Amino acid sequence: MDEQTARREIIKVGKLLYERSYVVSSDGNVSVRLDDGRVVATPTMTCKGRMTEDALAITDIEGRALSDRRASSELAMHLLIYRERPDVKAVCHAHPPHGTAFAVAGLAIDQPILSEVILTLGCVPLAGYGTPSTAELTDAMQPLVKHHNALLMANHGAVAYGADIWQAFDR
Ligand code: 13P
Repeated sequence: MDEQTARREIIKVGKLLYERSYVVSSDGNVSVRLDDGRVVATPTMTCKGRMTEDALAITDIEGRALSDRRASSELAMHLLIYRERPDVKAVCHAHPPHGTAFAVAGLAIDQPILSEVILTLGCVPLAGYGTPSTAELTDAMQPLVKHHNALLMANHGAVAYGADIWQAFDR
């Protein structure tokens, strides 16, 4: 994906996340890995329903800033996923109420209770608690990223990823 398309699609996804109450306030973050390897990410502390295309941040794959916007404080989580999964081009982190309730209750979504989820997503494991934006969180996620397309993070929320931004959002 090129930068202009990524900027446009991230704004659309941010609005949907907000309008569906998968995020409130400045919760959540979204990123896209561009064809040239750079990353377009939502800016930190910004409502995802009210972003503009020029508010987005650009970094390299190590998280070094390539624009004057400050990327999400959770960028390390996105970069971990890109490192572990060369097939992944977009990451969405949100706090969807039902998924987050599982994460707060310390439960994975790993029981065969809903056929659509089994067929399209598979098991969604629970990564142990790590303070957001620290290595404690990425260390807890790391063993799970290769084997699943969505994760719950204990006492935090959900993250999903895919071959494009819409697959990441849908997951
Ligand atoms: P950012 O605004 O830095 O992306 O953080 C939002 C969030 O969801 C923290 O968990």
